[in-house]
Amino acid sequence: MCTDKETVFVSRSESETEEAGFRLARSLSSGSTVLLRGDLGAGKTVFSRGFARGLGITEPVSSPTYTIVQEYERPGGGRLYHLDLYRISGVEAALAFGADEFFADPAAIALVEWPERIEGLLPPGAVNVRLEHLSESERRISICR
Ligand SMILES: Nc1ncnc2c1ncn2[C@@H]1O[C@H](COP(=O)(O)OP(=O)(O)O)[C@@H](O)[C@H]1O
Ligand SMILES: [Mg+2]
Repeated sequence: MCTDKETVFVSRSESETEEAGFRLARSLSSGSTVLLRGDLGAGKTVFSRGFARGLGITEPVSSPTYTIVQEYERPGGGRLYHLDLYRISGVEAALAFGADEFFADPAAIALVEWPERIEGLLPPGAVNVRLEHLSESERRISICR
């Protein structure tokens, strides 16, 4: 449930989901955290790719499933931390690799796939993005901020 401002729309293609990520990134300032919720294949990484592009990052973007975090330098300064917590068991394991420091960096933006793994560690005021399968090529995207 979203108690703040919620935007809901239907994406009909991968590129529309990328575009949504792009637009969100352009509207955020440093220090923000974005949580991406949704099943496997919902489009979290596709959204992340557009998001990185919106920050001016041109490197290839894929899910850091095995490395857990991928860092990108933003052209204007500061970093993007892209986290994929799918393989993380919980808060303790996340703290062991310093997840809290990624959220505390005021010059950075953190983008988190599978935030459900560390619910107790998430910073207040994060933007929540939910992606849901409607069909093979359609996703409902809800952004709560
Ligand atoms: N409207 C859509 N938005 C995003 N992805 C879509 C859409 N329609 C089909 N897809 C496909 O769904 C998959 C999403 O994969 P991915 O972003 O890696 O998911 P996740 O990171 O949530 O596990 C991709 O293969 C993509 O091509
Ligand atoms: Mg992914």
